[in-house]
Amino acid sequence: MQPLEIRKSILTDHAFLRSMLDDLDQRALRVLEGREEEISSLRDRGTLFHSRFTEHLAFEDRFLEPALRAAGLEGIEHSNQLIEDHREQREVLRYTLSGLRDESRPAQVVAKELRSLVELILDDMALEEMTIIRSAVLGDPDLVSGPGHPDGHSVRTTPHR
Ligand SMILES: [Fe+2]
Ligand SMILES: [Fe+2]
Repeated sequence: MQPLEIRKSILTDHAFLRSMLDDLDQRALRVLEGREEEISSLRDRGTLFHSRFTEHLAFEDRFLEPALRAAGLEGIEHSNQLIEDHREQREVLRYTLSGLRDESRPAQVVAKELRSLVELILDDMALEEMTIIRSAVLGDPDLVSGPGHPDGHSVRTTPHR
């Protein structure tokens, strides 16, 4: 798979994941507002998101990570960041999933934890796009255009952490 295809595929996946997260957040909010009868569907949707996001991580591990690693020093730095981010995300997902499966856990607590997860994953995806996915090593057209491009500039962003 070519770097640009990998990039495109990840961005498409992010858009789909954002729609799932938006739906999850609205459902969690309804539970917090008192509609506790919606907790079982929230648990189901949360579990579905967990498996869908796990697939996303696996895709990035399988295709993005080696593509970054093959692209020199800057790519290796991004690759290390990717591995560390995925480790943290899997840890948080594991914790949230165990809460979703624990029927004794109060609906309000589950809903709050899910909203925190939504916020965290949205932030992580935005940061991933601004740094790793936007990096020149993946052939971002905006970045590789350089000084000769009609816009006359290229944008570089650096990781915030
Ligand atoms: Fe990722
Ligand atoms: Fe991602």
